[in-house]
Amino acid sequence: MDAFRIEGGVPLRGGAAVETSKNAQLPCMAAALLTGEPVVFEAPSGHADIATMRKLLGGLGVAAVDGADGTLSLQATRTGGHLEAPYDLVRKMRASILVLGPLLARFGRGRVSLPGGCAIGARPVDLHLRALAALGADIRVEHGYVEATAPRLRGGEVVFDRVTVGGTENLLMAAALAEGQTMLRNAAREPEVADLARLLTAMGARIEGIGTDTLKVEGVRELGGARFRCIPDRIVAGTLLLAGAITGGDVTCRPAVPEHLDALLVKLRQMGAVVEAGPDWIRVAAAGRLRAMDALTLPYPGFPTDLQAQFMALLTQTEGTGTVQETIFENRFMHVPELLRMGADIRIEGRLAVVQGPRPLTGAPVMASDLRASACLVLAGLCAEGTTTVRRIYHLDRGYERLEERLSSLGGRVARVDA
Ligand code: UD1
Repeated sequence: MDAFRIEGGVPLRGGAAVETSKNAQLPCMAAALLTGEPVVFEAPSGHADIATMRKLLGGLGVAAVDGADGTLSLQATRTGGHLEAPYDLVRKMRASILVLGPLLARFGRGRVSLPGGCAIGARPVDLHLRALAALGADIRVEHGYVEATAPRLRGGEVVFDRVTVGGTENLLMAAALAEGQTMLRNAAREPEVADLARLLTAMGARIEGIGTDTLKVEGVRELGGARFRCIPDRIVAGTLLLAGAITGGDVTCRPAVPEHLDALLVKLRQMGAVVEAGPDWIRVAAAGRLRAMDALTLPYPGFPTDLQAQFMALLTQTEGTGTVQETIFENRFMHVPELLRMGADIRIEGRLAVVQGPRPLTGAPVMASDLRASACLVLAGLCAEGTTTVRRIYHLDRGYERLEERLSSLGGRVARVDA
């Protein structure tokens, strides 16, 4: 099992490349199920989760071809027989549930294992299922699987009880091929949802309100192929910029869409960092000590839960008391005990973490528990004195492409080792 060995204390400086967004590409790959024509992805993301989605789609009869020009082409021609997302893949990646909407819409049935709990909370899929039922699907849960059927989905009215990224994406795909009009209200406004809506539009879907919380979908009979480039990964960019900030460095990320990271950049500016941005790049420089700040995770355009742990690492190094309040997931502070072992001063009160800074961190062997918690521990290691070993780095590989190489190119001393 791989681990990262990090020698802390070097300010990160320079430019870092940002890969294509995992969370944008996952639903877009599921959208390939909606047509028999090829959907071609330019500069596809190489995260481990993408490989899992490829495997899942392969089992559903989708042919995947890596083009000589670096593209990934998906074509769902052989689909129609065994329409199942098995437990073994779903338990690895909850986003597997995203195939349910497209399967129902195009083939009238689908069977997807229920994901069960995960490290960051219960994360049910009830909102997906209720919304699909509102479009006429008959849904049963048996033997740990969701069994859904619908001769043809029909448009309907969906009001999500709470903002759900995956739920909105599943429903957008289902509604695209449903009969008649669907209104999705209280829809997620995340850039990844808008990206999927743009791909669907390129495939021939009729969607209004892209980027807003009200999406109107006029169902069409058929969708066609498309060639598409998903957005750059805003969470990877945010993590690299925070890695620069926590080490008192100066990092520029490209490609990056500054607007996608507004919630973080505004905060970093208030904390005293120099923040500059152009159309496709962001620079964050932290010369002196930054001031502490509070963060409250919210659906987009609020502060992203996926950057909460990394931001908390930064708060261990800023002047004063900062807080992080997690409102999206119920169990997303698992990085805290590990940060404490490195010398941080953090108190947890329910969903609030109170961080007293600055505290010198010292390197320690630590254990990654989920994707973003791993990133937090890597950041802590980069500013800690001595050696930090972050174990179970496979969590990190789910959402960062060879992060150690990029951190090293910025001057960080990070090596992938066999634990
Ligand atoms: C997506 C992202 C994940 C991010 C999250 C919130 C992907 C692949 N993953 O996850 O990185 O942290 O958005 O920005 O894009 N909920 C329910 N019932 C449901 C669905 C969700 O109660 O049917 C709850 C969840 O448990 C959670 C909240 O709603 O507490 C938000 O979840 P959701 O937006 O659906 O997250 P994901 O799409 O799973």
